[in-house]
Amino acid sequence: MIELTLIGIGTGNPGHLTLQAIEAMNAAELILIPLKGADKSDLAGLRRTMCETHITNPATKVVEFALPVRDAANPSYRQGVDDWHDAIAAAWQDEIRAHVGESGKVALLVWGDPSLYDSTLRLAERLARVMPVTTRVIPGITAIQALCAAHAIPLNEIGAPVQITTGRQLRDQDWPEGVDTIVVMLDGECSFTHLAPEGVEIWWGAFVGMSEQILRTGPLSEVGPQIVRTRAEARAEHGWIMDIYLMRRA
Ligand SMILES: C[S@@+](CC[C@H](N)C(=O)[O-])C[C@H]1O[C@@H](n2cnc3c(N)ncnc32)[C@H](O)[C@@H]1O
Repeated sequence: MIELTLIGIGTGNPGHLTLQAIEAMNAAELILIPLKGADKSDLAGLRRTMCETHITNPATKVVEFALPVRDAANPSYRQGVDDWHDAIAAAWQDEIRAHVGESGKVALLVWGDPSLYDSTLRLAERLARVMPVTTRVIPGITAIQALCAAHAIPLNEIGAPVQITTGRQLRDQDWPEGVDTIVVMLDGECSFTHLAPEGVEIWWGAFVGMSEQILRTGPLSEVGPQIVRTRAEARAEHGWIMDIYLMRRA
C-alpha cells in the first residue's frame, strides 16, 4: 500500500509551512518534486529549499521529476487536460515504483492548500486506479487567506456569503448572482476590467506572502487602471506573476 500525503505548503512564504507539514515531510520515505521545464517562477526551487531546511530524517529521499507538458494543440481543452493528468499520474507511478516499490510513504508538496484550484487530489484518484493508495491531506495556507491577511480584511461580511471564482468565469458571466463579495483567482487578464466599476471596492495582491509582494486597494474605478499597469510592469520585471483579488460591492 502506498500512503500518499499531500502537504499544503502555503503560497510561497517559507514561514507558511506548518509544524504538521514539517512532521509529514520527515515521516515520508519519498518526496516527489515536479520540475516544470523552463519555469521562471522556480517554484521547484522553493520546494527544494523547504526540504533542505526542514528535513532532518536521513531516510527521507527527495526526488525531482520532469512534469509532463499539456498538449495545448488538442482541440478539446477537457480532453487535453484529461490526457495530461493521465501522463502525470503515470509519471508519479514510475517514480514511486522506482524508489519505494508497491508500498511506502510518499509525499507531494502542494502550493497553498490541495483543496483549492489544484489537481493533485484528482491525480491521486487516478493513481489509486492503478496501484493501492491511501491519501491524506495536510492543510496549507491558501492564497485567499494570504490575501486577506496581507490587507488585514475579513473575507466575508457579517453572515454573508462569498463566491470564489476564476477570471474566465468573471469575463463570461459578469458579477455572480446572490453575493456581494467575490474572490477571483487564476486570472491572467485583469478580468475586473469587464465589470461596471461603480460601487465596487477591490483588494488586489500579487506574489502575496512572498518577498516580491505588491498590494493595491481602493475603489475599482480609481485603482483598477493602476492595477492593470502595475501587474504588467511586475510581470515584465519578474517574467511571471501570480495574483488574486477580492471585490465587494456596496
Ligand atoms: C492553481 S491555483 C493554486 C491555489 C492554491 N492551491 C491555494 O491554495 O491558494 C493558482 C492561483 O492561486 C493564486 N495564488 C497562489 N499563490 C499566490 C500568491 N502568492 N499571490 C497571489 N496569488 C496567488 C493565483 O490566483 C493563482 O492564479
